[in-house]
Amino acid sequence: MAGVELIDVHKKFAETLALDNINLSIPEGLVLGLIGHNGAGKSTLFKLVLGLIAPTSGSIRVLGQVREPGRTPYELQVQIGYLPEVVVLYGQLTGREVMDYFGRLKGTSRGQRKQLLEKVGLGPVANKKVKTYSRGMRQRLGLAQALLGNPRLLVMDEPTTGLDPIAAEEFYDIIDTLRSEDVTIIWSSHVLSEIESRVDEVAVLLQGRLIATGTMDQIRQRIGLPVTIRLSGRFESVGEQVKAECARYGDVDVKDADHIEIRVADAKKIKAVAALAGIPSLTDIQVEPPSLEALYDHIVSEQNRSDRDA
Ligand SMILES: Nc1ncnc2c1ncn2[C@@H]1O[C@H](COP(=O)(O)OP(=O)(O)O)[C@@H](O)[C@H]1O
Ligand SMILES: [Mg+2]
Repeated sequence: MAGVELIDVHKKFAETLALDNINLSIPEGLVLGLIGHNGAGKSTLFKLVLGLIAPTSGSIRVLGQVREPGRTPYELQVQIGYLPEVVVLYGQLTGREVMDYFGRLKGTSRGQRKQLLEKVGLGPVANKKVKTYSRGMRQRLGLAQALLGNPRLLVMDEPTTGLDPIAAEEFYDIIDTLRSEDVTIIWSSHVLSEIESRVDEVAVLLQGRLIATGTMDQIRQRIGLPVTIRLSGRFESVGEQVKAECARYGDVDVKDADHIEIRVADAKKIKAVAALAGIPSLTDIQVEPPSLEALYDHIVSEQNRSDRDA
């Protein structure tokens, strides 16, 4: 059974086509990174999945049940956790009181509320008012709230926006523990570097259209951007000869006397590494696949080009 399934989904707001024919199936237990610029349709997709709004056409299934906005059975509601883009919490309440409030709605035990506050590292400040919390602490409280009742689906809308690097790292650690608990997670972000190593699959939205889906490896293979081979060593003495050897495999960028980068077609990668490993005075060789950022830029410009030509 798919955790989430969207079939031929369109969503129109007046003149804006926010989602244009979305077909997406997310297996249970998968962590999906939903990426796209502002206005791409990420939040709209989430609201549809959550049953907060209805599609203009198409159908949506969540944990095997067809979505009918405003008619979510309680049993389904408690299986879904949602961390909205903007977490609005009552500043006058303490962390514990916020959890008690939402926890009662989901019929969870006191024990679990306490345990979740510990899990997100808010145990020590559970009795402090939320208005004294930092942005990172509020976000973690939002996550604890979303985890009430052990959801099987967790939807997080740009959860790390505005977090400092340390708070973001703490957040990633919590997500990592959830990954091992087989929760289906959809996580949207426009920070591609945080997504690429932390999700199972990626879905790219551009102006309401899903223009790429799959694992990083699948997307890399399909797009076939070159890899970067980085050589370190003492190349000064060999100079031109080394450069010429490198140039046989791709575009060479001499960073300085000790570092050379070569952009090599993926298909030539192994041959290149084998040959370049023989260069005298080489001390290190690294192969770096194209980043999600590079893939995204490529996909977007290809899409824009084909839209222009159409
Ligand atoms: N309630 C709404 N009324 C009108 N337009 C909307 C509404 N919600 C979203 N939109 C429009 O739909 C498009 C997608 O928005 P959104 O889903 O919020 O994108 P994202 O979350 O990727 O930034 C945007 O053009 C946005 O202006
Ligand atoms: Mg949004």
